[in-house]
Amino acid sequence: MCGIVGCVGIDDTRTFLLTGLKLLEYRGYDSAGIAMVINDHTLAHAKSVGYVAALERESYSLPHSGTVGIAHTRWATHGGVNVSNAHPHFDTNRAIAVVHNGIVENHTALRTLLERDGVVFRSETDTEVIAHLIAKFYHGDLCEAVRLAVREIRGTFGIAVVSTHEPGVLIAARMGSPLVLGIGDDFHVIASDVPAILARTQQVVYLNDGEVVRATKDDYQVLSLDKTPLTPEVQSVDQQLDSIERGSFPHYMLKEIYDQPRSLENTMRGRLKPESGDVILGGPRMDIDDILAIERVIFVACGTSLHASMIAKYLFEEFLRIPSEAEHASEFRYRNPIIRRGRDLAVFTSQSGETADTLAAMREVKRKGGRTLGICNVVNSSIAREVESGIYTHAGIEIGVASTKAFTAQVTAMALLMLWMGRVRDLSSFVFTQIIEELCHIPQKIDDILIDTTDVKALAEELVPAKNMLYLGRGYNFPVALEGALKMKEISYIHAEGYPAAEMKHGPIALIDENMPVVVIAPKDRTYAKVMSNIQEIKARKGFVIAVTTEGNTELANVVDRVLYVPSVMDPLQPLLTVVPLQLLAYYVALGRGLSVDKPRNLAKAVTVE
Ligand code: M6R
Repeated sequence: MCGIVGCVGIDDTRTFLLTGLKLLEYRGYDSAGIAMVINDHTLAHAKSVGYVAALERESYSLPHSGTVGIAHTRWATHGGVNVSNAHPHFDTNRAIAVVHNGIVENHTALRTLLERDGVVFRSETDTEVIAHLIAKFYHGDLCEAVRLAVREIRGTFGIAVVSTHEPGVLIAARMGSPLVLGIGDDFHVIASDVPAILARTQQVVYLNDGEVVRATKDDYQVLSLDKTPLTPEVQSVDQQLDSIERGSFPHYMLKEIYDQPRSLENTMRGRLKPESGDVILGGPRMDIDDILAIERVIFVACGTSLHASMIAKYLFEEFLRIPSEAEHASEFRYRNPIIRRGRDLAVFTSQSGETADTLAAMREVKRKGGRTLGICNVVNSSIAREVESGIYTHAGIEIGVASTKAFTAQVTAMALLMLWMGRVRDLSSFVFTQIIEELCHIPQKIDDILIDTTDVKALAEELVPAKNMLYLGRGYNFPVALEGALKMKEISYIHAEGYPAAEMKHGPIALIDENMPVVVIAPKDRTYAKVMSNIQEIKARKGFVIAVTTEGNTELANVVDRVLYVPSVMDPLQPLLTVVPLQLLAYYVALGRGLSVDKPRNLAKAVTVE
């Protein structure tokens, strides 16, 4: 959480920083701030609460051009959302400015020590200790002062530092929070994520944990925390700036829902070979013996990625006959999980590749000698880099905080992994070919859902006043119920819960009355008859039932209150279709409630704190 951006050698410093910050807003938007060294001796700054647009207005009086500058968009951890807690934070003399993404776990102890030295704090944040520590260690070398300061910190950080002491110098350091250095002929830029620097350069160095960088306009050096000079790899990113524009769509979320047919084609491109009946995955480093040796697959993730993982559990058990589990990363990492070397495969799924709990769970499995595989969307993200091997989902950048195309791409990538492993194990060529053929038709079927959204929009209008909702599904569609409810609660703030449909009668049915909308995912699949009984139980108690079913199923229209139709596909792939109207429903309800769809309250896109 939190986005940071910094630059040295850029003429229009202020515009560069604010533009970059807007592209990082998905990381947090509680407050924002900017600091620039002006005329080589003054540290000018502006801060505001809320979106970067507010900072843009607030910083209007700042000069356009500074020698160096840093900026920050905050997702609050320590200290309330107000101007004094907004970054940058300064040392006592306001000669050093720091922006920080992460958590200083030992900030209380450090604060006490600094206060004993006479430091008076201006904010409640953990970050401010970093600025004062740098000042304490500054004896004519800013990079050295930062290096010594961060060695005192326990926790995570991605920081950028500027100072009037060294007006042409930008320092950054990383431990657990992503940072990328952008390289130009006569400038250098730093940011939490690539989009913020793409307008200027595609030549980048991804900093590793425990690295400090000192950049001037013409040069940069990377050091380890013990001061060893390093030779980092310069990479060329092939992301284009237009991939992060939302075109004619009013919100990123809607654009990303509509991206799904093409993003799924990208997930499958070059991997699915229907002609030869092959699945080619270059990522996973497992030979035939490794695949045959696997006795258990543990899918570990958070949020939407966990819901995709739950579908993978069903897929792997049904088709590979391998015992599989789907686990909350936050629970898994602290539970001393049993990992059997060579026999357990742990799959870590994350859109951002930066989720703190998923990353930590992956490290725990590696520590115990287990096999790790990542399914990530963001190329070169922390999980992607640290995992033993993996598969990129290639869904394209996802900016809306509510994850949509990442989910369908993850399920598709998991299906590809299942097929790839399956041919080595017990999957028959008949079933293999059938799944491949059905997968190839999914993009067109999503297009068919998206072509006419009249029903879902009309239903959304009815649901705008709702206070609570239930989502029910069975089998492959139980995780879709969880995902539909998560979408609804995170952007519309309607309390929504997902349940296995049959669990209803073990408690939640007590909530049913005419004011409780219940979304039941009821495609004509192997669980349909059972789900129908569950629907009847709700109708008997006057519940308002919305069914998502397959086209051609006319029976439901006479039983439930509203029906949304999706094309038919084999049961295991049905979630790739049933989830789409639920994404749209959440979107249009949030819109109807006048809410900030892409930046829902209290949330951030990448959860880099535990
Ligand atoms: O980047 P990740 O996939 O690891 O993120 C996991 C969750 O934080 C994320 O899916 C979250 O639940 C979304 N906001 C849901 O829409």
